[in-house]
Amino acid sequence: MFYLESSDIMRLRNLKDKEELLENCSYLIKNPSEYKGLWKNVFQNNHPIHIEIGMGKGDFIYEMAKKYPDVNFIGIEKYSNVLARAIKKYPLALDNLKIINMDALYLGDVFDKEIEVIYLNFSDPWPKERTKERRLTSEVFLNIYEQIFKSEKRIFMKTDNLGLFASSIVSLSKFGYEFLCVSFDLHQSGLPNVYTEYEKKFQAQGVKINYLEAFKK
Ligand SMILES: C[S@@+](CC[C@H](N)C(=O)[O-])C[C@H]1O[C@@H](n2cnc3c(N)ncnc32)[C@H](O)[C@@H]1O
Repeated sequence: MFYLESSDIMRLRNLKDKEELLENCSYLIKNPSEYKGLWKNVFQNNHPIHIEIGMGKGDFIYEMAKKYPDVNFIGIEKYSNVLARAIKKYPLALDNLKIINMDALYLGDVFDKEIEVIYLNFSDPWPKERTKERRLTSEVFLNIYEQIFKSEKRIFMKTDNLGLFASSIVSLSKFGYEFLCVSFDLHQSGLPNVYTEYEKKFQAQGVKINYLEAFKK
């Protein structure tokens, strides 16, 4: 038997006004590869650029952009159905926020050593051995991130899933990352935190959140 999770159903279900939402969104970048190496022109400043891979409905990236106006944020989301929901929820453009509808597998076509921080929030866990390369912290993706990171590389990750968390720590360590911080209970750690949509749901259920900050010179 094949079960769909509610997040899968949301990804698959079409919004009636999806095309219109995507077409009219002023902060959705529709041809991102045209800006490879030129993202500072898009934002018209030299502020650092942070990306969230798998931004979902955008709660985190939108709040971060409001909180840190001197940082440029770009949200990446694979599914247009999900992105359209983010646009519906956050219709107002912010100067320091752009979003892109793409699979992170192709980030190397879009950025050239321009990114300072990658956020991975509640990434899909891909628990099966045969699909482990799809994890956003697998060697496949860490190699892609090498192409887009500026100099020092910083990955901030949060997840409810201990299996994904453990495998990410192993994979990041093997790839030469060191850890500035590892917590198995982010909400009790006193660390500053901006909640994601999934995180709010997990908190309501009393689920502990794992968090790490990894860096590589
Ligand atoms: C479990 S949801 C978490 C959403 C949000 N980060 C949060 O915490 O509320 C994972 C999101 O990552 C997106 N995603 C998964 N793999 C991706 C990839 N390779 N590239 C871009 N987005 C991806 C999914 O479509 C989904 O919206």
